[in-house]
Amino acid sequence: MSEKIKVLLSEDSVDKRIQEIGEQISKDYEGKQVHLVCVLKGGAFFMCELAKRITIPVSIDYMAVSSYGGATASSGVVRIIKDLDETLEGKDVIVVEDIVDSGNTLNYLLGLLKERKPASLKLCTLLDKPERRVVDVFVDYTGFAIPDEFVVGYGLDYDQKYRNLPFIGVIEII
Ligand code: IMP
Ligand code: MG
Repeated sequence: MSEKIKVLLSEDSVDKRIQEIGEQISKDYEGKQVHLVCVLKGGAFFMCELAKRITIPVSIDYMAVSSYGGATASSGVVRIIKDLDETLEGKDVIVVEDIVDSGNTLNYLLGLLKERKPASLKLCTLLDKPERRVVDVFVDYTGFAIPDEFVVGYGLDYDQKYRNLPFIGVIEII
């Protein structure tokens, strides 16, 4: 069995879209500071690129949860593997994710983070697969809505591989 990667979103188009989201966030939070909460590992590439394009003050923190094993289907089980280092109280928080699929991960995570009393809490995702939604999750900033296909690159993995691809690709097992 081998894997083939087909480009779905080029490096250029992803970069352009991240620039637009960065500008939008800078405008929406003008005069404030945003606290970006990166969901590891997938959100890391996106968050770094996004943070560089935000022109208001930014602080960052990381959190790791697991919802997938080595497979490509959601288990619906979410586990905290690494919690945040800092408190969220009084902060304008934006959770930065690689992709919203079933919505299980974000639904759980946003509920948990809300209890920590941030001044505001929003969600920013690079990719969204609306067709796959099982639980309702409101997404404030979306890079791209994509069809129901398994994608890799820009932080997204297949069995821990391909996170480093500078574009979004569709993986085909042949
Ligand atoms: P959800 O809980 O089903 O919304 O899944 C969220 C997580 O599943 C994401 O943060 C990814 O880590 C992973 N995931 C969902 N779809 C894909 C995909 O197409 N490629 C790689 N990882 C994915
Ligand atoms: Mg993820």
